[in-house]
Amino acid sequence: MALFTQAPKGTQDFLPEDTYKYQYIERRLLEIAELYGFFEIRTPMFEHTELFVRSVGGTTDVVQKEMYTFLDKKERSITLKPEGTAGAVRAVLEHGLHNKQLPVKLSYVTPCFRYEKPQAGRYRQFHQFGIEMLGSSSPAADAEIIDMMAGALASLGVNQVRLRLNSIGCPVCRPDYHAALLDYLGKVEGSLCHTCKERMKTNPLRVLDCKEPGCAAAVADAPRMLDYLCEECDTHFAGVRAQLKVLGIDYEIDTNIVRGLDYYTKTVFEFVTDTIGAQGTVCGGGRYDGLSEEMGGPPLPAMGFGMGIERLKLVMEAAGAPFPEPRGCDLYLAAIGEQAGLRAAALCQALRREGFWAEMDLQGRSVKAQMRAADRMGAHHSMVIGDGELAEGKAGVKNMRTGQTTELPLNEGFVDAFYECLINEGRQQALQSGDFIWPSTT
Ligand code: HAM
Repeated sequence: MALFTQAPKGTQDFLPEDTYKYQYIERRLLEIAELYGFFEIRTPMFEHTELFVRSVGGTTDVVQKEMYTFLDKKERSITLKPEGTAGAVRAVLEHGLHNKQLPVKLSYVTPCFRYEKPQAGRYRQFHQFGIEMLGSSSPAADAEIIDMMAGALASLGVNQVRLRLNSIGCPVCRPDYHAALLDYLGKVEGSLCHTCKERMKTNPLRVLDCKEPGCAAAVADAPRMLDYLCEECDTHFAGVRAQLKVLGIDYEIDTNIVRGLDYYTKTVFEFVTDTIGAQGTVCGGGRYDGLSEEMGGPPLPAMGFGMGIERLKLVMEAAGAPFPEPRGCDLYLAAIGEQAGLRAAALCQALRREGFWAEMDLQGRSVKAQMRAADRMGAHHSMVIGDGELAEGKAGVKNMRTGQTTELPLNEGFVDAFYECLINEGRQQALQSGDFIWPSTT
């Protein structure tokens, strides 16, 4: 097959039988975010490359190896966004959102692009649901964000996830720790992989979360950042833990969580699972108190997280979490003959204008084939209109599940009569909840 007829490596097509699951996940996450006062921001799919180099960090894997960067027609260096935080913070500063009310609370769902080796749960184009809060340095802000994520996962029926928490300090305490860590790494350097030997020069913290077994064993006794926190970072971390305790959120301290992006300070966290293989980090985030200033803005302590939506869906499927039932076609109008076809078109239009999913034949099928089509699309109701029904001005609507038939007038009272028929059958819940029948996770 010619290469161009296949989706590029690491990308996927979401087909309609699956997209409704993504829509459900995204809507639920955005709705829950609103309960915490986070509202959606949409930033461009691409930004000036410099934005990511400055924020994510020039020595990170994301910037060095994974960005989709190109020159536009005016030779400007442009990068497809590898993550959501940089663009969101840029937009806050550009539009002065921080001059209105603090904290600024934002949510987003966005495609992201990273040139990584694809595997289950890791793609070159993926989607992140993210949250960013700018303007609060309180440990309560960290806890609120973690609580939101924990609540969202529970509400989606995911419970096999663990929260791992760490603090990676700030520019005041990190230099001492770096020195101690480098000292230690110097002693075990022989056991480190080639990449970690390089990381020792550029970003020694990253050695701590290397997945190579040799490196993981070598750093088992490495000094812990938590033992080097300055008073402010230590107090902050204690505050976060106290908040999480009050909120009843379980966590484990994992001193090897350092995160792969340079902007983090103080609290970092990940929600991880063993249920989907190697790419078990469903969600990662933390504080980034210095990023606004790094971008030329005012001091604006901040905190957020990003969650891979494809990964979340894998975790939900592995957990047997409930997905909504697609609503299904409300009424399939089968027509026999030209006049009936015209009436079917008008009735379909009237139904659709009132929010019903109505279908009719567009393929010139026989009535038998029309009924088979209704069956295949899982229509809840069907109706056959021919010359006889037109002459009588009424036709029977059939419930395809129960076989029950109700007579409806084929005039302006049609839609109301159909609605009444649904209420009598107890299907009004589906109609009120929009596209989905919402599953219950409580
Ligand atoms: P991140 O840890 O690089 O953080 O990514 C967040 C999440 O995006 C990961 O936990 C994972 O679920 C998903 N993810 C990352 N790379 C891929 C990939 N190649 N394929 C599929 N899913 C992926 C950030 O991006 C930060 N901006 C999070 C943040 C927001 N921190 C503060 N605010």
